[in-house]
Amino acid sequence: MWLINSSIGRKVVMSVTGIALILFLTFHCAMNIVALFSGKAYNMICELLGANWYAIVATLGLAALAVIHIVFAFILTAQNRTARGQERYAVTDKPAKVEWASQNMLVLGIIILLGLFLHLFNFWYNMMFAEIMGFTAGHLPSDGFAFIIDTFGNPVFAVLYVIWLVAIWFHLTHGFWSAMQTLGVSGKIWFNRWRVIGFIYVTLLMLGFLVVVLAFAFKCAPSLCCYAS
Ligand code: HEM
Repeated sequence: MWLINSSIGRKVVMSVTGIALILFLTFHCAMNIVALFSGKAYNMICELLGANWYAIVATLGLAALAVIHIVFAFILTAQNRTARGQERYAVTDKPAKVEWASQNMLVLGIIILLGLFLHLFNFWYNMMFAEIMGFTAGHLPSDGFAFIIDTFGNPVFAVLYVIWLVAIWFHLTHGFWSAMQTLGVSGKIWFNRWRVIGFIYVTLLMLGFLVVVLAFAFKCAPSLCCYAS
């Protein structure tokens, strides 16, 4: 099948899964913003998702997207290195006008993956997994608001999350327009427009996550004023 066997097919798979993951992040960010204003409303959403069958199906779909995206990233990187052969080591000058992020997509991807494991442990494990397995990790599995307060109230986690978000920002700003290029955006004008659109979109998205981390790290989220645990 060309999607797996050809180089362009594999790039299409990376682009489509990457864009689907950005759509998930958009939903996730919107949900997190609610926590800034009301812990009760945030926990209502957590309860609605919980460990219901539709949330479990969505999680499995999301995991499949992430695994495909990561496996293809390794295949494409290995393939590019083989194609370049010894040249990779012979050339020491950095090519002009090549972004730092574009040369380090795999490294950024690995930092993001490590951060994701930490994040899934802090939230998914203590919430969805705890509900499925029937244990509680300090708070009720549906009390996402309490887990947010605990996680970002710890300065070590707050700093690690900020580093993680910066790495995701670099990865996505390059990934977005690279995906558009693979999926056929052509012509200098549209190419530049998509680059700007992608940059603004991804920056707003990551600022959305950052605001939540900082608001709870510095205990200044409006929702904290009327929260009693
Ligand atoms: C302010 C930052 C963030 C907060 C407060 C937050 C909060 C949460 C919470 C509460 C859950 C558990 C949901 C549940 O199991 O019911 C969760 C799951 C998850 N988060 Fe985040 N998150 C943040 C940032 C991110 C970022 C930047 C990413 C991606 C790179 C991410 C990826 C995920 C994934 C993949 C899951 C598992 C989703 C699922 O079970 O379907 N999160 N997050």
